[in-house]
Amino acid sequence: MILLKDYLNSKREAIDSVLEKFLDELIAPKVITEGMKYSVLNGGKRIRPILVLMTLELLNKDSRLGLATGAAIEMIHSYSLVHDDLPALDNDDYRRGKLTTHKKFGEAEGILIGDSLLTEAFKIISEKNEKISFEKIVKIIALTSDYSGARGMIGGQMIDIESEGKKVDIEILRYIHSNKTGKLIKLPVEVGAIIGDAKPEEKEALIRYAELIGLAFQIQDDILDIEGDFEKTGKKIGSDVALEKSTYPALIGLAKSKELLNKTTVEAKKILIECFGGKRSEKFIELTDYIACRES
Ligand code: IPE
Ligand code: IPE
Ligand code: MG
Ligand code: MG
Ligand code: MG
Repeated sequence: MILLKDYLNSKREAIDSVLEKFLDELIAPKVITEGMKYSVLNGGKRIRPILVLMTLELLNKDSRLGLATGAAIEMIHSYSLVHDDLPALDNDDYRRGKLTTHKKFGEAEGILIGDSLLTEAFKIISEKNEKISFEKIVKIIALTSDYSGARGMIGGQMIDIESEGKKVDIEILRYIHSNKTGKLIKLPVEVGAIIGDAKPEEKEALIRYAELIGLAFQIQDDILDIEGDFEKTGKKIGSDVALEKSTYPALIGLAKSKELLNKTTVEAKKILIECFGGKRSEKFIELTDYIACRES
């Protein structure tokens, strides 16, 4: 059995080389191209593109079909981080162990570098998917726009900012997490299901699974903001507490957050095993445990 760590490393390498190639091809003002590379090619975990590839493999399809769209989703994720770190939002100075994009290039530049990553992603989905039908590409574009924009990540980010310094109720916290983080985790799984022609019951199980791991992912992110180590996360610890963010630990406490994280991952694994069986789901089971226990 190939170890998850080695598997993730090999997929990460494949994604990084596609990202590098796409960014090298872009001709634009130097600060934009340099800033885009700085923000993307800096050691992210690449969980989102890996989810596209893993979903295709689960459906017994060639995972290379998901490389371009996976890279595009990673660009959107990177843009969301560049803007999330801006002074007007979370005002963070470090990301992936290096200065944040606006700290390195300036604030106006950071905004425009983020904008460029978002728009370039749609060009990649449209033009770098030669082996995928136009019908599927249009579906992927619509879904990507829905999940990244006001109906998804941006909606979650807005309420996250609006909820600073407030004790929000659990429904609002669920909305924040399922949108600011959940939607960009659900997107790659749903994209994999579209490209890989998942059957309706498979697609339904995959979506439910992705919703649960999206929640788990953000609960662990909130926990790492308290218990993490800068050397591993590459982000300042205590940023959420300083901004009085609405997080699971802030609302229900650390112990209950850990319980919920565990319950969520158990449920996620169960859904997948019920649909695909234990053997076929093996890699996803390992990934689910990794998401819950990750230190970075
Ligand atoms: C961080 O995402 C922001 C959240 C949505 C929690 P990741 O933890 O995936 O960050 P990178 O891409 O590995 O740096
Ligand atoms: C951000 O959540 C989610 C995004 C849409 C970028 P956080 O603000 O908790 O992410 P980190 O901790 O800065 O990575
Ligand atoms: Mg934030
Ligand atoms: Mg942040
Ligand atoms: Mg965080």
